[in-house]
Amino acid sequence: MACGFSNTCRAVIVFIWAALTLLKVHVASATNISIHVAASEIERQALLNSGWWKDRIPHNTSDHCGWVGTIPKEIGSLRNLESLDLSSNNLNGTIPKEIGSLRNLELLDLSSNNLNGTVLKEIGSLRNLKVLDLGSNNLNGTVPKEIGSLRNLKVLDLGSNNLNGTIPKEIGSLRNLEWLELSSNNLNGTIPKEIGRLRNLESLDLSSNNLNGTIPKEIGRLRNLESLDLSSNNLNGTVPKEIGNLRNLQSLDLSSNNLNGTIRKEIGSLRNLEWLELSSNNLNGTIPKEIWSLRNPKVLELSSNLNKSVQPKRGCELEF
Ligand SMILES: *[C@@H]1O[C@H](CO)[C@@H](O)[C@H](O)[C@H]1NC(C)=O
Ligand SMILES: *[C@@H]1O[C@H](CO)[C@@H](O)[C@H](O)[C@H]1NC(C)=O
Ligand SMILES: *[C@@H]1O[C@H](CO)[C@@H](O)[C@H](O)[C@H]1NC(C)=O
Ligand SMILES: *[C@@H]1O[C@H](CO)[C@@H](O)[C@H](O)[C@H]1NC(C)=O
Ligand SMILES: *[C@@H]1O[C@H](CO)[C@@H](O)[C@H](O)[C@H]1NC(C)=O
Ligand SMILES: *[C@@H]1O[C@H](CO)[C@@H](O)[C@H](O)[C@H]1NC(C)=O
Ligand SMILES: *[C@@H]1O[C@H](CO)[C@@H](O)[C@H](O)[C@H]1NC(C)=O
Ligand SMILES: *[C@@H]1O[C@H](CO)[C@@H](O)[C@H](O)[C@H]1NC(C)=O
Ligand SMILES: *[C@@H]1O[C@H](CO)[C@@H](O)[C@H](O)[C@H]1NC(C)=O
Ligand SMILES: *[C@@H]1O[C@H](CO)[C@@H](O)[C@H](O)[C@H]1NC(C)=O
Ligand SMILES: *[C@@H]1O[C@H](CO)[C@@H](O)[C@H](O)[C@H]1NC(C)=O
Ligand SMILES: *[C@@H]1O[C@H](CO)[C@@H](O)[C@H](O)[C@H]1NC(C)=O
Repeated sequence: MACGFSNTCRAVIVFIWAALTLLKVHVASATNISIHVAASEIERQALLNSGWWKDRIPHNTSDHCGWVGTIPKEIGSLRNLESLDLSSNNLNGTIPKEIGSLRNLELLDLSSNNLNGTVLKEIGSLRNLKVLDLGSNNLNGTVPKEIGSLRNLKVLDLGSNNLNGTIPKEIGSLRNLEWLELSSNNLNGTIPKEIGRLRNLESLDLSSNNLNGTIPKEIGRLRNLESLDLSSNNLNGTVPKEIGNLRNLQSLDLSSNNLNGTIRKEIGSLRNLEWLELSSNNLNGTIPKEIWSLRNPKVLELSSNLNKSVQPKRGCELEF
């Protein structure tokens, strides 16, 4: 192997060896490759001897030492794998359906590669998953409804792909979800009201899709939400008053939609809000005086509503 003597490559090889030998390793290297195997000694040796990872270290490592090539279907034989992090490499091709055999997997992070093909419905068999991150790839097709079976999931990131179709209502079954990121895809249809069941959600980002319809009032049930980004969609109707229930909200971005009606005075009761973006909608009327009582405003952007922009000043009540 041409890169056999490069220091970086040697480090990675040693690291992989260590990762496969020890039960749990967390090492930061040029590329963070981390494989956590709670495998039997036999399985570990088989994996090590198979050398399937060898071809995946690039031959020319003068830039970096990311893994290249495709994810081998043999990965399906690593039945005791608990954590697989191959993020930020140069992997391409599709995610092999054999990945559905890794029933003990708790973390699957394939983000920031060049993977294409679809988000396989087989992922729905990974019932122990807590973290599923397939963001920043070229995946297309739809968000499979089977994802609703992943009841232990805390983090779901499918952002920055080419997914289309609708957000499946089954997503409402993910009761443990804390982080949901589906931004920068081509998702259409409406925001399912079932999203209101995700009571543990702290961050919801559905921005930069083609979602239409109204913002479901059920969103007001997400009392743990700290960040809500629905910007750059085609949402219309008014901002539901239930948004005032989101007392932990620190960041609210509803900009670049077709929302109309007045700016909700309930927004003024969101005492932790630091970032408020409502620009590029059709909101009209008066900026409610409650907004000036926000405790920590850092960014307040309300421009391009109707046909005027405003320069809000603390202590003033502006009309436009
Ligand atoms: C590797 O992980 C460390 C610690 O999590 C992080 O600081 C670093 O930026 C990561 N490097 C890459 C290339 O992702
Ligand atoms: C390795 O990559 C560098 C930078 O991209 C290039 O200059 C060099 O010629 C390559 N070496 C080989 C052996 O391909
Ligand atoms: C992956 O990328 C390499 C290098 O660009 C290319 O030769 C190969 O055909 C690609 N494979 C797939 C499955 O897209
Ligand atoms: C993935 O991309 C490669 C290279 O562009 C292409 O040949 C292949 O058909 C694509 N596969 C799928 C399933 O989209
Ligand atoms: C995904 O993209 C590929 C290549 O552009 C295309 O052939 C395939 O039909 C697409 N699949 C879906 C499900 O949209
Ligand atoms: C997704 O996009 C593909 C390719 O453009 C198209 O064939 C398919 O009908 C779309 N699917 C949905 C559900 O919108
Ligand atoms: C989503 O977009 C596709 C393709 O443009 C279209 O056929 C479908 O009716 C749209 N679905 C919804 C629910 O808007
Ligand atoms: C969303 O857009 C689709 C396609 O343009 C349209 O058929 C549908 O009626 C719209 N739905 C809502 C709720 O506005
Ligand atoms: C949202 O837009 C759709 C399609 O243009 C329209 O039928 C619907 O009445 C609008 N809804 C509201 C609440 O403005
Ligand atoms: C919002 O726009 C819709 C459709 O244009 C209209 O029917 C409705 O009265 C508007 N609502 C408000 C509160 O301005
Ligand atoms: C906002 O716009 C709607 C529809 O254009 C209009 O009926 C309403 O009187 C306006 N409200 C204010 C406070 O200007
Ligand atoms: C702004 O909107 C009002 C009411 O819709 C209209 O009368 C006025 O001409 C518009 N002003 C500009 C600069 O477009």
